[in-house]
Amino acid sequence: MDSVRVTVVGAGYVGLVTAAGMAHLGHHVTVVESEPTRISEVLDGRLPIREPGLNELIAEGYANGRFGITDRYHDPGEYVLVCVDTPAQGDGSADISRVMGAVRELVRESEPGARPTVVLRSTVPPGTGDRVAAALAKSGMPVHVVSNPEFLRESTAVYDFLHPARIVIGGESPGTDAVARLYDSVDAPRIIVSRRSAELAKYAANAHLAARISLMNEIATIAEEVGADILEVERVVGSDPRIGPAFLRAGIGWGGSCFPKDVSALTRMDGRPRILDAVERVNEDARRRALRLVLSATSGVAHPVVGILGLAFKPDTSDARGSIGMWLATALLEAGVAVRAHDPVVASPFVVDPDPYAAVAGVDALVLVTEWAIYRELDWERVAREMRGTLVVDGRNVLDRDRLRALGLEYVGYGRGE
Ligand code: UGA
Repeated sequence: MDSVRVTVVGAGYVGLVTAAGMAHLGHHVTVVESEPTRISEVLDGRLPIREPGLNELIAEGYANGRFGITDRYHDPGEYVLVCVDTPAQGDGSADISRVMGAVRELVRESEPGARPTVVLRSTVPPGTGDRVAAALAKSGMPVHVVSNPEFLRESTAVYDFLHPARIVIGGESPGTDAVARLYDSVDAPRIIVSRRSAELAKYAANAHLAARISLMNEIATIAEEVGADILEVERVVGSDPRIGPAFLRAGIGWGGSCFPKDVSALTRMDGRPRILDAVERVNEDARRRALRLVLSATSGVAHPVVGILGLAFKPDTSDARGSIGMWLATALLEAGVAVRAHDPVVASPFVVDPDPYAAVAGVDALVLVTEWAIYRELDWERVAREMRGTLVVDGRNVLDRDRLRALGLEYVGYGRGE
């Protein structure tokens, strides 16, 4: 298609990746962001998130004049892509106030007669598109409202945008046709469904992935009881083409800014959640187990200290939202245990030194929470020498159990029965 003018609302990780990606596809993109500091960060090239390839795409967009950022709508162009966040409220349900706020601003600030197709990229409860459409119609902007959920994984979000497994478009023609045209140059299957189905499918996909991990964590508990090794079980289960190998890694559990919020929002949509409740509970148990193990290893120690390797919610990201490492550090402090943490990119008061060996020196127990590659490659002989205690909890089952034991360390993984 010819290039069109696209407004992207929100300069968070979904908004920036979407905007830079759309500019790369040839569209003229303006990001509307209400936070002035966020705007200057983007303008100065100091992105609030670390996302491989994103700086380059934004720089490309600036250079060819297809990417800009501002705090006002003016002329929104042919499309408005809403990418604001929908955080969890106190009861766990999704807060869509920023989505509704963005719609109100759009109506207030746009030039009279503007008729953009409004595209909801934010993860929103089914029915939100209807509310948005009704609000727009009531305000004299009767436009098409289409759902186009994102499936961007942090740390590979740019790749996922340009090479999606599928493009999901929810709504009715001609709005859905208009949104499909935005992606003309992207080679991926299109799945056109109703708006509510698209909205629910996003939650369903995240819940499904989280449930797979929780199910493997439940099987990991059984593996320990029956003397089986979850890593071997995982290889067998994952090689069934009906199941596949992704998202089967047992361990200290899933975190991040998406799974916890989306599973809990979905739970609130179901009057009697059963499986989803258990998915959350099993996930919670996994981190509590690590806490229990280190607390019992340090009970009786005069000034206990625990080391934590990894504060990012997963490797290769600087994002510590929903981080299990942060949760563990906080829980340990509350229990009167001092914490020394390390992370290659996350800055936090728990991080005492950029050197990982500083986080292990003199600790009574060590927990690997995030499987950054550098932790596998540590000089474990040195770690064993510098620790005061011997317990190492491998929250991601990535360390060499036999080697650590040979060094005199007490290795505990997840589901590593023997
Ligand atoms: C997730 C989804 O994978 C994306 O498709 C979705 O678009 C995004 O949420 C979102 O809703 O915006 P993300 O939060 O970046 O992406 O993280 P994932 O790579 O899915 O990992 C989530 C958590 O599961 C991490 O804490 C990770 O360590 C954990 N995990 C993952 C496991 O414990 N075991 C596994 O086998 C895989």
